[in-house]
Amino acid sequence: MKNKLILGSLVLGAFFQANAQLPVYLDQKLSMQLRVEDALSRMTLEEKVKLCYAQSKFSSHGVPRLGIPEIWMSDGPHGVRAEINWNDWGYANWTNDSITAFPALTCLAATWSPELSGAYGGAIGAEARFRKKDILLGPGVNIYRTPMNGRNFEYMGEDPYLASILCVPYIQELQKNGVAACVKHFALNNQELWRGHIDVRLSDRALHEIYLPAFKAAVLEGEAWSIMGAYNKVRGQHACHNDFLLNKILKQDWGFDGVVVTDWGGCHDTYEAAMYGLDMEMGSYTNGLTTESEFTYDDYYLAKPYLTMLQNGEVPESTINDKATRILRTLYRTAMNPEKPFGAVATPEHYSVAEEIGNEGIVLLKNSSPSRKAEKLLPLQADRYNNILVVGDNAVRFLNEGGGSSELKVKDMISPLEGLRSMYGDKIKFAQGYASGRPMYGNIEEIPQSVTESLRHEAVEMAKKADVVIMVGGLNKNHYQDCEGGDRLSYGLPFGQNELIEELQKVNPNIVLVLLSGNAVEMPWVNKIPAIVQGWYLGSMGGKSLANVISGKVNPSGKLPFSFPAKLSDCGAHAFGEISYPGDSIMQEYKEDILVGYRWHDTKKIPALFSFGHGLSYTTFEYGNASASAKSFSGNEEIRINVTVKNSGKTAGKEVIQLYIGDETGKIMRPVKELKGFDKIALQPGEQKEVSFIVKAGDLKYYDEAIGDWNVASGKFKAYIGSSSTDIRSTVPFTYKNDLLVKK
Ligand code: GLC
Repeated sequence: MKNKLILGSLVLGAFFQANAQLPVYLDQKLSMQLRVEDALSRMTLEEKVKLCYAQSKFSSHGVPRLGIPEIWMSDGPHGVRAEINWNDWGYANWTNDSITAFPALTCLAATWSPELSGAYGGAIGAEARFRKKDILLGPGVNIYRTPMNGRNFEYMGEDPYLASILCVPYIQELQKNGVAACVKHFALNNQELWRGHIDVRLSDRALHEIYLPAFKAAVLEGEAWSIMGAYNKVRGQHACHNDFLLNKILKQDWGFDGVVVTDWGGCHDTYEAAMYGLDMEMGSYTNGLTTESEFTYDDYYLAKPYLTMLQNGEVPESTINDKATRILRTLYRTAMNPEKPFGAVATPEHYSVAEEIGNEGIVLLKNSSPSRKAEKLLPLQADRYNNILVVGDNAVRFLNEGGGSSELKVKDMISPLEGLRSMYGDKIKFAQGYASGRPMYGNIEEIPQSVTESLRHEAVEMAKKADVVIMVGGLNKNHYQDCEGGDRLSYGLPFGQNELIEELQKVNPNIVLVLLSGNAVEMPWVNKIPAIVQGWYLGSMGGKSLANVISGKVNPSGKLPFSFPAKLSDCGAHAFGEISYPGDSIMQEYKEDILVGYRWHDTKKIPALFSFGHGLSYTTFEYGNASASAKSFSGNEEIRINVTVKNSGKTAGKEVIQLYIGDETGKIMRPVKELKGFDKIALQPGEQKEVSFIVKAGDLKYYDEAIGDWNVASGKFKAYIGSSSTDIRSTVPFTYKNDLLVKK
């Protein structure tokens, strides 16, 4: 009897529970808008304001009374950063936060593969979800304007079209894990020197044609749920509360419905933060990364001071309702998302994604025969060598550390030396060759000259006996190299690497130089080195990817996402004096305007040492003559540019066919050509494929400052089909008549 009573009451309880009215804001069957409105209607003004600022270094308040959770954030674009202390920048030293370090975003950009970008986003999103993060602070899509920028390794190169196409799948697949991408740093944070205040001045054309497109694609196609404001100023206002950038462009023109988060310490004024588009304030009262302040979180600009202004009617209540709406939307999309998966870290699947991105991102810059022998030096066939000397600090350095906020604590990390040893076995010998000290933030470790000399001497002696030398050098995410918070101090390789390279090649001509970096470097020895590989920061599986390419197990297919100027003054950002780079410490003007990267090299006829889009293969590709489906088109019509590409070599390989468009109407100053399409295809030896690009009016447009909008000139254009921005295989002229009503 007793059991029946218990059973009956359980059934009854379940029945009532099932029909108990869930409050609207928690009822996942209802629309987001309804739930947001209901949540807002239940919240006090104080509770709404609390949503808008940090409660710890990497989290913001929820509404405990209503069961609305906190939002937890984490760096970074290449993997989920180790847990940080509640109140300071120290690491919490957890024992369960080791993860996969994926290759840096410059490597992803060098793959020119939207598919790999999606795989990247899906994997890193699963790791962020597993680590219970609701916002991942990446990807970074600032433009590579100068090779001196300390953070270029976190971004996707110099071309807005390439960065636009490649950031979208990363964002889309990341967010399928119920984790918000936080696309950064919006906008014009294209250097680290004076990043906290430098006031960037530039033309509307440069802003719209070069620096905004990747952010616009992230919002319009990627549907990014959050954006991080940049530290710097733009046209006089801090980017984190900037009426023009945030209210006008991001929220009004682009219809962004997510949340704008400051960079850490990027908020400087309550009224501006209230009125000029900021939604969440993080990291204030620290000078970004080094000191805590005596202020509590409730003293933040968007905390008590904002509440007071609201209560006094100094700013409209509509501002807090808009901020709270955007934050609640983010909560429903992430922490309160019922569909979010459990996630996973450091799985074999994620490791294979990391390895594949490395395989396809590594760029073969040069490959020649070291002597009159016909054979090119790469790939290194194991059966041809008995003594392979690996030289370089970067062959053993864990480059997941350093670089600033994107640094990672890894579960596994295969170094270049380990990767090469597993490929070539005990044929591999090692000499450090140079020392670069520990990854340090804020300064660099001086290496005693005696150490440098003795390491160099040891390597040169060993090189005399080696069949071939693989030198693994580059930059190393120390301060003033590829590292947040400071720009590079010189364009050349540091730590005596140039002298080491010169000494090595004197005793052994068979040198493969592998550069691990996120930036171009000066190469005074370029004509003396037969094989040069741009290796990027490759993450946990880096050593495997490198060994795959060097051994020929993988045929390299990477293409440069930025130009390598032969000397710094060949770069547009460095052609107009200090006011253009780095500025006068208060303000800077982008005087090269729209001529960034290859746009500068092409138009000013200053050849780069290695061009944007350049990358060799172990096979060869023959291009047929490109053709157009019509000689002219107008209005909203389109034409097709077709080309047949054949693998004319003996090895299977992948090629990135690139389409550039040149405006020859003469109506307005434009670069010689601009990237408007690309297609990466795999071809077996002897196989050929037809590649077709659709060209529409949008591919011809320029930003017309006279009308404050995009426009298209009528007249002659030229399509360039190439294997790089300078290796043009064929061109096709066509004309366009703009009979579209110009907006406005
Ligand atoms: C840093 C970086 C930003 C990072 C944030 C949190 O200063 O500029 O990219 O996500 O602060 O570490």
